[in-house]
Amino acid sequence: MPLTYQEFKKEVSQLCGTDLSLYKSQQMDRRIHSLMSLWGIADYDQYLKELKTNAHRYQEFVKKLTINVSEFFRNPDRFMELWEKIVPELLKASRKIKIWSAGCSNGAEPYSIAIILQELQASTQAEIIATDIDQVVLEKAKKGVYLRHEVKSLPPELLKKYFRQEEELFFLGDSIKKKVIFKRHNLLCDPFPQELDLISCRNVVIYFTEEAKNKLYMKFNQSLRMGGYFLAGGTEPLLYYKQVGFENVSPSFYKKFGAPDPHWDPSQRSFT
Ligand SMILES: C[S@@+](CC[C@H](N)C(=O)[O-])C[C@H]1O[C@@H](n2cnc3c(N)ncnc32)[C@H](O)[C@@H]1O
Repeated sequence: MPLTYQEFKKEVSQLCGTDLSLYKSQQMDRRIHSLMSLWGIADYDQYLKELKTNAHRYQEFVKKLTINVSEFFRNPDRFMELWEKIVPELLKASRKIKIWSAGCSNGAEPYSIAIILQELQASTQAEIIATDIDQVVLEKAKKGVYLRHEVKSLPPELLKKYFRQEEELFFLGDSIKKKVIFKRHNLLCDPFPQELDLISCRNVVIYFTEEAKNKLYMKFNQSLRMGGYFLAGGTEPLLYYKQVGFENVSPSFYKKFGAPDPHWDPSQRSFT
């Protein structure tokens, strides 16, 4: 009997170590099938075999599923707010702060935060952990080499100060690179770091189902210290932030004021 699409997704979930049923199905299906036709694959048995035996195609598949574009100071207003308000407030409250960039892609996001800390002369007071499900993109992040469009939103003086340009490539300096610890981590199943002061998870959850998103936000809340901040993507407002235990202090910034409401059922999207 040939593999059905559902069976194929189950097998691939095991292979990648991530449950594909937690991703929105329409987008997921479109991406899976676009690669299938690009590679000229006729059925799911052949597709699965290809992914198991061809490391290059397997990496391409993971990349396609997770889309990892990013850039420095993406949505610059949010980074200016981090710089002028959020990080100084956290540094006032604690001598050492712990920051997590979840779904960090090529590293532009955690490195932007590291640059802000350096500008505030507080880099020794912070630990920055950056994680992603995609090992290939993490290797790119560690190298710290970027294209012009990935640094275009950086204030020009910061670009000049922290990067060395060689033709069309921008090399990030070691003083910033060594401030970020990169690790592979799957948000849908791995344990979360704890006692955090700031979590940034932007442009990652758009691919998750509403229930997976809500559960994730509850886990982020539980990973934060009281008064810690969660920074969401520009198009990803938390509809149930109060139930999750956050107050919404400004666009995309949520501050922890308590634990998730035990009477809230994240799968129902409302109170039980
Ligand atoms: C569009 S990038 C966002 C990068 C950065 N946060 C930003 O906003 O510029 C999305 C990243 O989420 C990662 N990702 C997708 N699913 C994930 C999961 N289950 N666990 C961890 N990272 C995941 C992808 O590999 C990708 O690098």
